[in-house]
Amino acid sequence: MGKIIEAENIGYVYQSKYQKTKALTGVSCSFERGKVYAITGKSGSGKSTFLSLLAGLDVPTEGNLYIDGKEIREIDRDAYRMNLASVIYQAFHLFPLLTVLENVMFPMGLQHVPKKEAKERAHDFLAKVGLPDTLYGKMPNMISGGEQQRVAIARAMASGGQILLADEPTGNLDSQNEAVIVELLGKMAHEENYAVIVVTHNEKVAEAADVVYGMLDGRLEVVRA
Ligand SMILES: Nc1ncnc2c1ncn2[C@@H]1O[C@H](COP(=O)(O)OP(=O)(O)O)[C@@H](O)[C@H]1O
Ligand SMILES: [Mg+2]
Repeated sequence: MGKIIEAENIGYVYQSKYQKTKALTGVSCSFERGKVYAITGKSGSGKSTFLSLLAGLDVPTEGNLYIDGKEIREIDRDAYRMNLASVIYQAFHLFPLLTVLENVMFPMGLQHVPKKEAKERAHDFLAKVGLPDTLYGKMPNMISGGEQQRVAIARAMASGGQILLADEPTGNLDSQNEAVIVELLGKMAHEENYAVIVVTHNEKVAEAADVVYGMLDGRLEVVRA
């Protein structure tokens, strides 16, 4: 299968008025759909920076990053973020004033899916992540962290993308909920054909991944291919 993402010798420097921080150096790797990739490494090694480049939030200061064969500087990054790449975080980032169901409907609204259809599909996605329908009308702060993370994954599914990026998605969860999220990330790759890229400190998450990359001082190495 083709590579959905290809990083070619990318570097990234944070630059403020008074100092420069080189966060990434010579990073080359690729990602295919249908696989889970874990990116491990110590705090400060550049994992979140790399993920934010993959998410199209910024562009590399050196090298090239290809998304489906096109260089990231040449594509509409807003459209990329809306249509192809979803991000989930450690702190679940749901919309606090929307219900569970409305959170999952939201990306489909942006894509002008008719409301009735969006609602039906949101039900399907929430069922896929194993949430009981008694929770669909609740606000995010009324459900547990594990449940919120499942809603975040259902919302990512609803965006209909090809790439799921996750930054420490199990960071706030107990081991039981962690296992559920690991299983769902696997489903996203193996059943829904996403390229799933997970930044993690968690051994279990890395063990379950198909490919493991390690980050050390801004450089990426293959830990397990
Ligand atoms: N907004 C920022 N401005 C300046 N330096 C930053 C910023 N964000 C991260 N850094 C620096 O970049 C390096 C990599 O950070 P980060 O990508 O957050 O690592 P990780 O996610 O692995 O902990 C660190 O030295 C960090 O201090
Ligand atoms: Mg980080």
